Amino acid sequence: MADNIVILTGAGISAESGLGTFRDAGGLWSQYDLEDVATPEGFARDPGLVHEFYNARRANMLAARPHAGHEALARLQRHWPGRVTLITQNIDDLHERAGARDVIHMHGELSRALCAACEHRWDAPAEMQPDAPCPQCAAPQTRPDVVWFGEIPYHMERIGKALSEAQLFVAIGTSGAVYPAAGFVAEAAQAGARTIEINLERSEVAGLFDEHILGPASQLVPEWADRMLEPRR
Ligand code: OAD
Repeated sequence: MADNIVILTGAGISAESGLGTFRDAGGLWSQYDLEDVATPEGFARDPGLVHEFYNARRANMLAARPHAGHEALARLQRHWPGRVTLITQNIDDLHERAGARDVIHMHGELSRALCAACEHRWDAPAEMQPDAPCPQCAAPQTRPDVVWFGEIPYHMERIGKALSEAQLFVAIGTSGAVYPAAGFVAEAAQAGARTIEINLERSEVAGLFDEHILGPASQLVPEWADRMLEPRR
């Protein structure tokens, strides 16, 4: 039986598509105060600023294209004879546009809107307005359907089950600075999985991985995926 593979991606996989990471030099958290744009308190203080931040990120996403790394993960999902669970911390849709299926967006999605009053969800317009009424309850409390600091990431039960059944865990383009995602490597290892990190540099939790593949995702992810699929061609 082929291994169950669980893959976790972060901002580093979208960097070469032109979307900024958070913690690299010049990253988003050096340009914006996280407390202002990525917390419920920041949204309560200034919803206009928060929408401006996510509207800009949505515009960047729509202008970006998936690269060979995103495509390789979709290819692996299609051709691997076992299960490939793809979990992303990214709120962009580049995995889907490369052809990946069932992507678990643990931090939500830029393409979706959420009513803070009634929790109704719908497709976000390109430009969200702070006072736009919810199509279901009409409350003017529309927010992007993304997970902020202090909120619980989505799909944690499903992720926990996938990690407990993993034989191979691969983290790609993530600094290991934000939990619970940074703890997935330990969870997978505890379940007996082999663990690999593919990243530009060693992450903050690098010591927990069995293997490190260091360099740009657009080159190293296709090479790794091809090595996985090679004996089966
Ligand atoms: P970070 O910005 O913290 O880390 C990005 C990682 O990708 C770094 O370790 C880089 O070395 C690596 N990297 C950069 N370019 C790369 C490339 N071309 N190829 C491979 N690796 C590359 O982003 P995340 O770990 O995704 O959450 O951040 C986690 C969470 O923190 C985000 O989901 C977001 C943020 O605050 C929320 O907003 C809730």
